[in-house]
Amino acid sequence: MGFSEEVRGAAQTIRRAEAVSVISHIDADGISSEAIVRTAVARAGVPVSSHFVRQLEPLTMKAVPEDDSLKVFVDLGAGQQNLLEERGLSPDEVLILDHHVAQPCGIEYQQVNGVPHGHTRLSAAGVAYFVAKALDEENVDLAKIAIVGNVGDMMARETLGLVGPAAEIVADGVEHGSVRVVRRDLNCYGTSTRPVHVCLSYNDDPRIPGITNDTPGALRFLKKLLGYELKGPGGRWLVWEELDLPVRTKITSALVQQLLANGEGVERVFADSYLFPDEPARSPLRNASEYATLLNACGRWAKPGIGSKICCGDRGDAYREAEYMLNNHRSIIRELLQYILDTGVTELSHLQYLHIGDRYPDTIVGIGAGMALGKLNWRKPILIMCTLPEDHTLTKVSMRTNEWSVRRGVDLQAALNAASAEFGGGGGGHPIAAGAFIPHEAEGVFVSRVNDLLRDQLA
Ligand code: C5P
Repeated sequence: MGFSEEVRGAAQTIRRAEAVSVISHIDADGISSEAIVRTAVARAGVPVSSHFVRQLEPLTMKAVPEDDSLKVFVDLGAGQQNLLEERGLSPDEVLILDHHVAQPCGIEYQQVNGVPHGHTRLSAAGVAYFVAKALDEENVDLAKIAIVGNVGDMMARETLGLVGPAAEIVADGVEHGSVRVVRRDLNCYGTSTRPVHVCLSYNDDPRIPGITNDTPGALRFLKKLLGYELKGPGGRWLVWEELDLPVRTKITSALVQQLLANGEGVERVFADSYLFPDEPARSPLRNASEYATLLNACGRWAKPGIGSKICCGDRGDAYREAEYMLNNHRSIIRELLQYILDTGVTELSHLQYLHIGDRYPDTIVGIGAGMALGKLNWRKPILIMCTLPEDHTLTKVSMRTNEWSVRRGVDLQAALNAASAEFGGGGGGHPIAAGAFIPHEAEGVFVSRVNDLLRDQLA
């Protein structure tokens, strides 16, 4: 069966359902997928409820309701079909909309997944969007949320823009008027909310000497280049999105020159960005990557439902709560980053690692690891372990690397998946960012095993 047939089949299954329970993941892609499915199902007149889980594993299976509803698993389920079977779920009460590699089981559950069709850069929110559109063409207004999910799950990162079926979603959003694409914009996070010099200095893809990790350096660079400071009315710093095209071009050309002078490639200076003109300027909802961070802040601090309300248009209480969570999320991540840098990492031949105990929730450790990497030895992937307060026999592992390493053959997902399986744990994710759970007593050997696997990948 082709991808389009899978999509149409899923829409039919939903139309026939008496009631739907959506079970989704707490990250930006999971939250946006849930919002898309819930909205589309409700618009089709079918009663719908939602349940979020951190991972689908034996302990969290209790979130799956024991009733006659159609269980729609989004952004999870493909890799955990054995759990659905063990729970006794029959094929006619399950629909999986996912983008993770499927692990088949005895029962063949209905599934829509781009991966087996070669659509490897389409996240669950993208899959959910196609099903929503098959339910009703009017659901094109959900393209914006699907773009947030795709960007949040790093589907645009390697290719410097959304490609394949995800690019079709972008075209729908543009036609609908709720999405604006800036082709070959500055490839930098925070272009709608951060002062330009801060935005540039926080960016390490590409790394630019004298600018990356050097906010005063970035400010000097801009002042020297332009002859003035990028300030607006009342003396507030301008953000990238507010700059006129000639100013932007002048800055990107200078960045290109800087990289060329250092013998570096320049292609990663630019990437497509996705703006939402119906959101207020300078707000975290104004572009896809910052919107995704806000959703992640909600999910990782146990309020995925708030993120979902934002996706569905709530700009009142839910938005105020989400903004509070975003600020809190940022300040705790800054603290975590400082903790990692102050404590220091141990370097092995092919990775650097640290154990941070149970000081920070495991849901944010990976984010801290990613930020720390830019300030440590960025050539070696970073592995951070933490203890789960609810279960001291288990250790959560988060790994992060960068495009530079991935281009050289590093695949963290493959390494963590293989190494954790050897110790009876489980892991997954992406080449650039992956996680795993392992038994506490295996920590030492596990780290050295991952180091060996990374060495083999680079051989
Ligand atoms: O938790 P963390 O942010 O480090 O996770 C990074 C990536 O690894 C995410 O895509 C997450 O879904 C995935 N992961 C996984 N299995 C785990 C832990 C994380 O697939 N046991």
